[in-house]
Amino acid sequence: MKILVLNGPNLNMLGIRKPEIYGIDTLDAINTYLKKKFPDLDLEFFQSNTEGEVINKLHFAHKSYQGVVINPGAWSHYSLALRDAVESCILPVIEVHLSNIASREEFRHISVISPVAEGTISGFGRYSYVLALQAMVDRLSKKEK
Ligand code: DQA
Repeated sequence: MKILVLNGPNLNMLGIRKPEIYGIDTLDAINTYLKKKFPDLDLEFFQSNTEGEVINKLHFAHKSYQGVVINPGAWSHYSLALRDAVESCILPVIEVHLSNIASREEFRHISVISPVAEGTISGFGRYSYVLALQAMVDRLSKKEK
């Protein structure tokens, strides 16, 4: 199973950025942890601070992958362009957040991505990605919604 794990803006700053909220792991450390947790999955990772690059990845994801896990970062709260790209993606897309966005500032309570994602996992730190990948494996094994 080939899964694309996408990370949006500022997630390259993990490890430095607000460790009390996002934890002490760098994005590379999280990716290494995920590879160890899922040795049988073919995981590919992509992070960008440029919205169009992530949108392009979503447009072509079906050519190379079976599912997408995405942490859209702050784009979650306002990017209708990213939402449309997720909606256009013919693969299952699962949204993840390290922090519990529902318990933070009010502007983070809304995700414009959630309604078009297969599901959203939020608040479990790096384990949010593990839960998302487990859900993806289950989803792809059953081949049903
Ligand atoms: C985040 C939550 C967003 O509100 C924030 O802008 C991020 C990270 C998370 O993983 O908790 O950049 O997506």
